[in-house]
Amino acid sequence: MYENIQRQDSEIFASLRGEIARQQDHLEMIASENYASKAVLEAMGSHFTNKYAEGYPGRRYYGGCEHVDDMEKLAIERAKRLYNAEHANVQPHSGAQANMAVYFSVLKPGDTLLGLDLAHGGHLTHGHPLNSSGMLYNFKSYHVRKDDELLDMDEVRSLAREHKPRMIVAGASAYSRHWDFRLFKEIADEVGALLMVDMAHIAGLVASGHHPSPVPFADFVTTTTHKTLRGPRGGLVLCKEVHAKALDRSLFPGVQGGPLMHMVAAKAIAFKEAMDPSFKSYSGKVVENAKALSHSLQEKGWRIVSGGTDNHLILVDVFAKGVLGSVAEKALDLAGITINKNGIPFDPNPPMKPSGIRLGTPAITTRGMGIPEMAQVGGWIHRVLVEPEKEASIRQIRSEVLGLTQQFPIPQ
Ligand SMILES: Cc1ncc(COP(=O)(O)O)c(C=O)c1O
Repeated sequence: MYENIQRQDSEIFASLRGEIARQQDHLEMIASENYASKAVLEAMGSHFTNKYAEGYPGRRYYGGCEHVDDMEKLAIERAKRLYNAEHANVQPHSGAQANMAVYFSVLKPGDTLLGLDLAHGGHLTHGHPLNSSGMLYNFKSYHVRKDDELLDMDEVRSLAREHKPRMIVAGASAYSRHWDFRLFKEIADEVGALLMVDMAHIAGLVASGHHPSPVPFADFVTTTTHKTLRGPRGGLVLCKEVHAKALDRSLFPGVQGGPLMHMVAAKAIAFKEAMDPSFKSYSGKVVENAKALSHSLQEKGWRIVSGGTDNHLILVDVFAKGVLGSVAEKALDLAGITINKNGIPFDPNPPMKPSGIRLGTPAITTRGMGIPEMAQVGGWIHRVLVEPEKEASIRQIRSEVLGLTQQFPIPQ
């Protein structure tokens, strides 16, 4: 594999070889990462990359689009079938661009929106002041409750009544519990707001039925395709038919130029994979593994934010035992366990030295790991975090991790 890169560009080949070895030798536990299949990888490196196809199937600004038209139509049909949606736009280059396309399609600069505070698990594109969403729109934030760290739906309702937003945004990057999309819709209807659900993190679980679907309730559903859905890096928007024209026009020519047709092909393949019964079983195991790992850490005395998980991720309050998330991230990395430091709700510490870490099971589950391995992984995380400065013990754990990763090859 990669013979041509090796022959032609030794420097890039060296980086690539290093990255493949890193992915094989480490436990990838960043909640937003996964291993795409060989077919998805092939599509991303395919001849579709050579084609310009501004516009949509049957309405392109370039000639020679007959094959990409057929392919994009398939991608759209599969996305609609997978999620039972009325309309799909498969062209967003990323989750961030999918979100901007939705905002631009129905909002005017200065309009008010409600979104989950980034510090409580939300995403930059849900109104952070340094993101274009926060610069262009007047975002108000809702939160989780202090006592149980679950979404405060009473606050969502009262903020909605007070601010009369044009749009309510549901969805998160670091929230481990189910969302009640029906209740969000009820609140949106009460104040005359549109509802957008950004299901980027849970898209695979929604596809497989392991998380309730937002599609029946939301005007717009946005997602990335590369997290639990296990496709290529990219975005997708689903919406009700009444918004279809505005959305398509907003994405192109509003936000993007030519679509990345090789990525659209890879998305189409991933949608087909997600309709296969094996994906349902995979997704179920992702959740089982997250629950098992959460229990294992709890048993060893670690505080899990909200007391557990319903999905693919776990937020651990490591500072409850005096460890900073940044210290934990570094120590675990040395042990071969890749995770990210993460703020927790009501965090007393700053974002670069937060109180928490976020763990995810999508990638290690793709490798075939299950409940017995989660007990091992929980044990290693515990041993690293009780002595994050102790190099000898971390080195020992690193060799044990290598023993496990060697038994579970990554898709190549
Ligand atoms: C909830 C949510 N929305 C949007 C995005 C943005 O996706 P991308 O990195 O593809 O722009 C992310 C990425 O982490 C996310 O977690």
